[in-house]
Amino acid sequence: MSATEHPTVIDADFVQHLHERYAALREAGPAHRVRTSDGLPVWVVTRYADVRAALADPRLSKDVDGARRIVQDKLPNDQVRGTPDDAIAKHMLNLDPPDHTRIRKLVVKAFTARRVDELCPRVEWLTARLLDAFGDRDEVDLLDALAFPLPIQVICELLGVDEAHREDFRTWTNTLLDASDRGAAAAAAADLSGYLGELVARKRAEPDADLVSGLIEASEDADRLSRDELISMVFLLLIAGHETTVNLIGNAVLALLAEPGRWRELHADPGLVEPVVEEALRFDSPVMHGTFRHTVQPVDIGGVEIPAHEVVWVSIASANRDPQRFGEPDRFDPRREAQGHLAFGHGIHFCLGAQLARLEGRTALRQLSARFPGLRAAPALREPQWRYSTLIRGLRELPVLLR
Ligand code: HEM
Repeated sequence: MSATEHPTVIDADFVQHLHERYAALREAGPAHRVRTSDGLPVWVVTRYADVRAALADPRLSKDVDGARRIVQDKLPNDQVRGTPDDAIAKHMLNLDPPDHTRIRKLVVKAFTARRVDELCPRVEWLTARLLDAFGDRDEVDLLDALAFPLPIQVICELLGVDEAHREDFRTWTNTLLDASDRGAAAAAAADLSGYLGELVARKRAEPDADLVSGLIEASEDADRLSRDELISMVFLLLIAGHETTVNLIGNAVLALLAEPGRWRELHADPGLVEPVVEEALRFDSPVMHGTFRHTVQPVDIGGVEIPAHEVVWVSIASANRDPQRFGEPDRFDPRREAQGHLAFGHGIHFCLGAQLARLEGRTALRQLSARFPGLRAAPALREPQWRYSTLIRGLRELPVLLR
């Protein structure tokens, strides 16, 4: 084993002990070649300055075809992951310039700050309605009752997805991101892509005020978004629009409940909600290791050379706990300067939905703390269980006592 190869396996146990394990890797060096549980060799970049630079480094490609070839070379038997469905794979988070630039420009045109601002009263209303539904219950799973349904309802309204299909979305996206069953994930991807094809066709025939109609219009004006690109775009917005925000809300509540007094403090001073959300994004970043990247030429990371044609995971979770950048990084402290955290990425792929995510996170926490000042962790939350995903940092459940 060379100095940069490391016996670490990124598996369910790693995810369960994420921050300890990353702290050890960060101490040991700026980049290591490790393996995923199914044997794929991946390089992890561990330190803040290197992660920030790597996220914006054009030598780390996001091109999905290149990624497929590398995975097939390294894991020849992995048929499922090696051949993701083209109809949903050609989204901008899977492309390099110039295609990325072309598509991002079109989406920015349709997904405006105004569209997000206009959603503000709607997010307030949806949150209030979800909290009303708690009724006189003493205990709820906050993931089920609030953190999941809020972002899915918001993104579905934004995109124009009908109510009848919203539950299907949860099943499809959950299955897609679960790292333990790749066959089921492929089937869910096919169902979802079929539904999105129908949605796009319907909006083309009967345009509305929603974002999908806006995207169709933008692409027809310029004739620059293919059918697959359009479907992939909607797919990306859907996944990115809720699988992340659910965990911003969940991880923030967990951090707040972990220490006595924090919840009451937020209740007493609702102005704290903005720094709480930023600190939660830093403390347990919902996107753990960025998204799939690979080297198109050798890249030097803090003196460690990563050869060409290697998979690289740029660890946002590790960067945001780097003591070189954030003092006492394992302490959740809303009063620190959390600005500069990399939870929304950096560079040309910087999250397009950051403002929407912040709006949802702040609204959920503000209303929840206003209505339930006595909220605390249920006994089952003493040992929080994390979902096994290679992308998303999120809890399996979040049982709380409301009063
Ligand atoms: C990209 C995080 C919410 C849409 C990204 C990236 C990160 C991220 C880290 C860059 C990934 C990389 O470079 O590898 C988050 C987090 C969220 C969140 C932590 C919630 C707390 C949202 C929402 C939407 C959204 C609500 C849309 C409704 C996107 C899109 C991209 C993206 C479209 C791709 C941008 C591009 O490739 O140019 N997000 N996101 N995200 N996000 Fe988010």
